[in-house]
Amino acid sequence: MNIKLLVIGGWLLAAISFATPVGAQTPEYTGNRVCTKCHFSQGDAWRTSAHAKAFDSLKPNVKTAAKTKAGLDPAKDYSVDQNCVACHVTGHGEIGGYKTGMNPDDAKLVVGVSCESCHGAGSIYRKAHGEAVDKLKSSGIATDRQLLVEAKQNFDYEKACARCHLNYQGSKWAGAKPPYTPFTPAVDPKYQFDFDKAVRVVGDKNPAHTHYKLRGVFKGGTVPAIRAEIQQNALEEPEE
Ligand code: HEC
Ligand code: HEC
Ligand code: HEC
Ligand code: HEC
Repeated sequence: MNIKLLVIGGWLLAAISFATPVGAQTPEYTGNRVCTKCHFSQGDAWRTSAHAKAFDSLKPNVKTAAKTKAGLDPAKDYSVDQNCVACHVTGHGEIGGYKTGMNPDDAKLVVGVSCESCHGAGSIYRKAHGEAVDKLKSSGIATDRQLLVEAKQNFDYEKACARCHLNYQGSKWAGAKPPYTPFTPAVDPKYQFDFDKAVRVVGDKNPAHTHYKLRGVFKGGTVPAIRAEIQQNALEEPEE
């Protein structure tokens, strides 16, 4: 065994991984358990939401009245229909995301509209979250949010919602393209999407999850203007 070569090999590997800046890496979907093991309060709230159960709505004989009204066949199994699944799961067809026919145990973490549908694929930024909390504990220094942007955490919530909620024929949203949602304002005015209203809902009726006050692990960066208001109305996180 040539120790010297092994050491050189190790240095080479280290040099290569340092040479690839975080921003150039492609994040993968990790599934919601990775997030909820740190963010259990948001996890508990999310699990009771319509988003968490969105995949079940595609199964036969579920939400029959709504399906009939939208011109769909309530007896059909839409959970394997490529015209439906993308908006009812997390990271459809992406690395680590939902794939039709995946084994049910793996699917559990990516069925429904979960954390990464709104916050972005998490394999890179989730590490930054863990490191930032360690840094704050050991040195009292908060981490710049710019690091999260480089790690591909999404802060453009309006666009994330639009991808599913405003994606229908005749939508004013410029990004609309098939497959479209069958549940449009023309089917029922209640399907009219109002970002400003939905994102501001205070407490456990928020469509994403109840919001809890941040403790200042991150600072700075460009966050959406709505953040201040959401944080103002956020609850204190219960002690574990
Ligand atoms: C190792 C624990 C850990 C993991 C895993 C983790 N986070 Fe975090 N996250 C944190 C901590 C700690 C903070 C800072 C909270 C604070 O300031 O109070 C944070 C902050 C956040 C924030 C707010 C960031 C900001 O702008 O201040 C969001 C959103 C978030 N996490 C979502 C996620 C999602 C989605 C996942 C899964 C892909 C995830 N987190 C995984 C620990 C974690
Ligand atoms: C990946 C697609 C997707 C994304 C992203 C998404 N949604 Fe949804 N949303 C859905 C689906 C699908 C349902 C219907 C769930 C069901 O009943 O099966 C839904 C339901 C809802 C509802 C009605 C149910 C309720 O809880 O009142 C609201 C409001 C809502 N979403 C708001 C939002 C907001 C705000 C955002 C962005 C911050 C967002 N959604 C992001 C797909 C998405
Ligand atoms: C472009 C994204 C998208 C596609 C594609 C999509 N949906 Fe949805 N679906 C949504 C959104 C967003 C909602 C939530 C609408 C709301 O409550 O405002 C929803 C809601 C639903 C609901 C609940 C409606 C209610 O009133 O409770 C059912 C059932 C459903 N979708 C089935 C389907 C089926 C079946 C297909 C395929 C034929 C499909 N969806 C394709 C985005 C989509
Ligand atoms: C439908 C979109 C959506 C989903 C799904 C979602 N979030 Fe969020 N989340 C948001 C929005 C919008 C905010 C508020 C804006 C902000 O503070 O950055 C937020 C804020 C947060 C924050 C900051 C503190 C707080 O409570 O406001 C954390 C942490 C977080 N989310 C974690 C999660 C985790 C973990 C999951 C999955 C269990 C999840 N989110 C699922 C949209 C979503």
